[in-house]
Amino acid sequence: MPIVDAQRRHAELAEELRRHDHAYYVLAAPTISDAAYDRLYRELLDLEAAHPSLITPDSPSQRVGGTPLTAFGSVRHSVPMMSLDNTYSPEEVTAFVARVQKGLPGESLAWTVEPKVDGVAVTLRYENGVFATGATRGDGTTGDDITVNLRTLRSLPLRLTAGSQSVPAVLEARGEVFMPLAGFRKLNADREAAGEEPFVNPRNSAAGSLKQLDPKLVAERPLALVVYGLGAVEGVPTPATQHELLDRLKQYGFPTPERVWTAQSPEEILACITELDAIRRSFAYDTDGAVVKLDSLAQRERLGATAKAPRWAMAFKYAAEQAATRLKAITIQVGRTGALTPVAELEPVFVGGSTVSRATLHNEEEIRRKDIRVGDTVIIEKAGEVIPAVVRVETERRTGVEVEFIFPTICPECGTPATREKTAAGEGAVWRCGNLDCPAKIRGRLEHWCHRGAMDIEGGGEVLVRQLVTAGLVRDVSDLYRLKREEVAALERMGEKSADNFLEGVRQSRDRDLWRLIFGLGILHVGAGVAKVLARSFPNLDELARATAPELAQLHDVGEVIAASVEAWFGDPQNRALVSRLRTAGLRFESSTFLPANAAPQGPFVGKTIVLTGTLPTLSREEATAWIERLGGKVSSSVSKKTHYVLAGDEAGSKLEKAQTLGVPILDEAAFRTLAGPPV
Ligand code: IVH
Repeated sequence: MPIVDAQRRHAELAEELRRHDHAYYVLAAPTISDAAYDRLYRELLDLEAAHPSLITPDSPSQRVGGTPLTAFGSVRHSVPMMSLDNTYSPEEVTAFVARVQKGLPGESLAWTVEPKVDGVAVTLRYENGVFATGATRGDGTTGDDITVNLRTLRSLPLRLTAGSQSVPAVLEARGEVFMPLAGFRKLNADREAAGEEPFVNPRNSAAGSLKQLDPKLVAERPLALVVYGLGAVEGVPTPATQHELLDRLKQYGFPTPERVWTAQSPEEILACITELDAIRRSFAYDTDGAVVKLDSLAQRERLGATAKAPRWAMAFKYAAEQAATRLKAITIQVGRTGALTPVAELEPVFVGGSTVSRATLHNEEEIRRKDIRVGDTVIIEKAGEVIPAVVRVETERRTGVEVEFIFPTICPECGTPATREKTAAGEGAVWRCGNLDCPAKIRGRLEHWCHRGAMDIEGGGEVLVRQLVTAGLVRDVSDLYRLKREEVAALERMGEKSADNFLEGVRQSRDRDLWRLIFGLGILHVGAGVAKVLARSFPNLDELARATAPELAQLHDVGEVIAASVEAWFGDPQNRALVSRLRTAGLRFESSTFLPANAAPQGPFVGKTIVLTGTLPTLSREEATAWIERLGGKVSSSVSKKTHYVLAGDEAGSKLEKAQTLGVPILDEAAFRTLAGPPV
């Protein structure tokens, strides 16, 4: 295709994909099927591969995330990112309004009330309409440059939609990155299935995700954005009011808060705050309060700010709901990994929007630290998505009948002595049942194997697994493949149809991708993400089983703890026997996603000479060189007619000029990444 046609088609595709992204991720109203979207996307990638000069940072292809960074750079905010004064008291809201009125004597005031989104504050800088830099708040003056991570958020526009407005030369949008509650619950379920610590709440998981140095991992996290403010603006007039500001941001393609109220007096403000409290649990994000803002930006300007916070806004925080209830008992749950977790069994109590009858007590130390005794009146707290917690004991209500809890040192399920282990995070300590045959662990391993995110065997939930184990039909996952129809159908509440469905699911699972099998084995610390890395790195399960910890630790995203855990798992004779039974049962051990590291190089750089110049945004010279060489290319230090590409970064000098004179194609890092494909 001639370059002009390619350019035109590329622009059309990019525009169309942007529109569909906006419809899906911002308006939550999809306008196209997944398959049709994929076709457009594929066409765009093909065009970019044929014409790398078409790859611009705002191309929809640039969201996927590139190679990991070694550290974040820092960004100085052109307008400081301040915090807000906050209060829990309605009286202080009234006092705040009076204070503002005193600063603006005789003026009429209007207010907006917005949800206070409990996420991570970010600033997003657009230059000539294109997303250029994104950063965290940091200390308010300087934050971390997390541009590559933010690019992966599908609700973040890579280019502003201008409509009838002109595109600002500079626009900084300010808002919050959050993890939608549904995504948070799923992520935590997956982490628990992998024997990993769940995140405490959505805010922590959003913050933890944005801190990842590998944008590919960030791309897998369900993060979303909401914006509510502006930093620097150049080239267009600033809006007159908060309402106009939010409208403008919406027109540019940003997601803004779903409800914003207007108020004229302290009474109206407080009514809005109450109304928000009534509906905030239906939002996609946790809200920990309301933000009250003076609507007029000109009035804000005149009021100014203190050293830390603006004088024109205030946050009203909703108190985390607490309730007192009686601790009836402490029970011990034994998980798939054998961890003994104490659970508080409570007199049911309504708190934070739901009835709570159980709360985790985490570990032995937590019980001792808070001096929690059976029979105590305890204070339960539940805020947003936070797992209900026992905050403290009302010791003054003790009557003397409360009993100290003696943490069992034997497994309550099988009676095997448990051993005490430090957690990976170094906090607290876990008692673990070491008996591989503990019924709780057997059930846990089977449920995990059947789980949707692992071997995906429908019907293999808690109830059926318990029946199968109790009936003595199944001891480990390989037994599932020997089950007979009549054995399953004879189980209570089963019947032939359900038995057939379940056994069909079992049969189909023989052919699942290797990563599902690896994940399904339930190796400590091996989540679905790590399992995918392992399946990409080894041609089959046998090669993985032979790998040593140091070899494993060299893999991207596999640390020493994971490497040791994998080595130990395959080193255990009982596990090796299981693997052999799975082989006999006919499971597929070959990896369909294996990427041979030393296979004959393929890809765009075979036989090509590339010259590096200047500083690239994220890749060091060594990283870029190694990558090019892995893909069969050669790196040379001087530009000539024989040079195929020049990979140029900031402050590129004479080499870039020479390339331009000789007509050698010039790639920036984004174009290079697209050409190179996924890092190998
Ligand atoms: S306006 C000058 N509006 O809460 C600061 N902030 O505790 C103006 N936040 O720093 C901020 N939702 O990170 C504003 N609707 C909202 C907000 C919001 C959440 C965050 C923001 C701020 C922090 C203060």
